[in-house]
Amino acid sequence: MRLLRTAGAATLFLSPATFATNNPLTPGKLEADIRTEELQNVLWNLNHIAVTHGGNRAFGEPGYKASLDFILERAQTRFHNEFDTVVQPFNHTYGKTNQIKVTGPEGEDVFVISPLYNPATPLPDGITAPLVDTPVDDERGSACFPDQWEGVDVKGKLVLVKRGICAVADKSALAKERGALGVILYNEQPGTNIVVPTLGAESIGKTVPIGIIPLEVGQSWKSRLADGEEVTVHLLVDSISDTRETWNIIAETKQGDPDKVIMLGAHLDSVQAGAGINDDGSGTAALLEILTAVRRYDGFPHKIRFAWWAAEESGLVGSLYYTSHLTEEEADRIKYYFNYDMIGSPHPDFEIASDGNSGVGPQLLEEYLVEQGKEIVHGGFGSGSDFVGFLELGIPSTALHTGAGAPFDECYHQACDDLDNINWEALTVNAKAAARAAARLANSLEGVPPRKKTSLNLHTRRGVVQNFRKWASLAEEASHGHTCSHTGKRVVV
Ligand SMILES: *[C@@H]1O[C@H](CO)[C@@H](O)[C@H](O)[C@H]1NC(C)=O
Ligand SMILES: [Zn+2]
Repeated sequence: MRLLRTAGAATLFLSPATFATNNPLTPGKLEADIRTEELQNVLWNLNHIAVTHGGNRAFGEPGYKASLDFILERAQTRFHNEFDTVVQPFNHTYGKTNQIKVTGPEGEDVFVISPLYNPATPLPDGITAPLVDTPVDDERGSACFPDQWEGVDVKGKLVLVKRGICAVADKSALAKERGALGVILYNEQPGTNIVVPTLGAESIGKTVPIGIIPLEVGQSWKSRLADGEEVTVHLLVDSISDTRETWNIIAETKQGDPDKVIMLGAHLDSVQAGAGINDDGSGTAALLEILTAVRRYDGFPHKIRFAWWAAEESGLVGSLYYTSHLTEEEADRIKYYFNYDMIGSPHPDFEIASDGNSGVGPQLLEEYLVEQGKEIVHGGFGSGSDFVGFLELGIPSTALHTGAGAPFDECYHQACDDLDNINWEALTVNAKAAARAAARLANSLEGVPPRKKTSLNLHTRRGVVQNFRKWASLAEEASHGHTCSHTGKRVVV
């Protein structure tokens, strides 16, 4: 509790900022405000949204719009006194496979999944053609480079390729260049637990239809081909692609210096396969609960800005859109970025990603997590989440992550990423760690290095902006005169 400053008595009743310094923001208070039941409540809502909107919350789908409205109901409607919230719209290429089918040489149906942005086969018949094998190369990746296709005649055929090492789109583009009709890609791991890859919107027009089948099936066909047998298979892909509008949400405290902004980001979209409760309902819920708690406090000198990113699963599209459209001055004002993507994995490890420019960020998260008995795994950033655009701008950043895929999260990018796919204790301590770190930097930038400006930043930024133009024109080509699907949709601003 603070005594009145002698000169401040009059303004005390006029300025809410001064008034509320009775309750200054501290890491300890914000941490204590984060409660498991409230995180559960948010994730129950996101799961309910998926269940009642076709099973997912993916870019271009009704479940994403409902998720957006859910966040806005709090950040924008209920808490409009404490936060300025904007919705940032943009267009991106949407792709969806309505049906995929692979039929084996004995007429049997084979388990198959479709990558995002898979081009369609002729319909309704699909492609029936002899299968031709490609050599396996587990070091450089199979069928990743032109020299690996030499001597393989794939013209007019379906080509059998092993997954892994290089992008699925690269393999499929080489298949197309060489005249293949389609690709049967077999997975690297046995079983039907196959992670859905994306070909990327930029692949549109460059790849052939593709079906991804289990390793066991691919290997059995491979050995039959090696024995000189003719193996004829059937591939049918019924897919669409068009342009759809989507939206980032950016909400920041009214309080705090606009020139000193601490940013926290999580992506709001899921994959099409499921509800995305760990990926990234977990980060979404942590941010929403931190926002809800921050509103009670005052007297902190720096703004806290929350971002819920759109279309992360389509290639970090929302966060790249945001960062590539910041002016130099706007980028300068962002002093720190924390990324929270998958922070409640059922069998978590506690991975903190940082680089030489992360300053005090990793330490702030680590100190608290270690106190809670967690063992920290330190690593670099990679290119897997929404920090990429911030790193390109040279903004000091840290990311927290509890692991994707087995053994951390076996439901990664699958239908079972639901309410049972969360370790509530891990999610709670991570959200508390995030709250503490945000409160600390909202009060003091000690230990935060300056933004690292290089000509490389500018170069890659221009590249990203160009990519958006390219995506837009590719989508137009791909839509073959279809009207934009968002026509008549309301833009929430
Ligand atoms: C998205 O594209 C449609 C149709 O081309 C256009 O009307 C709309 O303004 C675009 N939205 C944004 C945010 O650019
Ligand atoms: Zn994610």
